[in-house]
Amino acid sequence: MSENEPTLRVSKIKDGTVIDHITGGHALDVAKILGIAERRASVITIAMNVPSKRLGHKDMVKIEGRFLAGSEVDKIALLAPNATINIVKGYKVVEKQRVKLPDAIKGIIKCDNPACISNSNEPVQTRFYVQKAQPLCLKCHYCGHIMEKEEILKQF
Ligand code: CTP
Ligand code: ZN
Repeated sequence: MSENEPTLRVSKIKDGTVIDHITGGHALDVAKILGIAERRASVITIAMNVPSKRLGHKDMVKIEGRFLAGSEVDKIALLAPNATINIVKGYKVVEKQRVKLPDAIKGIIKCDNPACISNSNEPVQTRFYVQKAQPLCLKCHYCGHIMEKEEILKQF
């Protein structure tokens, strides 16, 4: 039984990706990660504040005819750590993946502190630790600089 019963609010897709169980209010962050504003080729459906058994309210983003790159999944995990990524082919969910917020975030975002060693000519991969998951707050492994959601989103 679907969480959306008795009313199915958005229609099923034939081929593409459904990012489901996005914490309520975060659909537009996920849309930004996917570069939705720059891509006019795909049909995108964004549903917000849909009732959910697990989350109370959830958001959902559906992209037709597109499958995500690993780097896009890593970014989604940062801003929507409860999300499920469903690969849909021929109207059927053929693969379901729960994203996971890693303990250390390596190489995905840059430190905003210009004096940080990760911004020098040294070959150092960026690394952050999660201070707080929601709203997202990360701490640089090298210089201790705190990065908040707004700063992180500017890089996506
Ligand atoms: N979906 C879709 N188009 C399809 C198939 C599924 O848009 N052709 C959407 C469903 O509406 C749902 C999500 O993809 O939001 C996952 O589908 P499914 O696994 O069938 O739903 P649930 O069993 O409710 O998923 P979960 O167990 O992850 O909550
Ligand atoms: Zn730093």
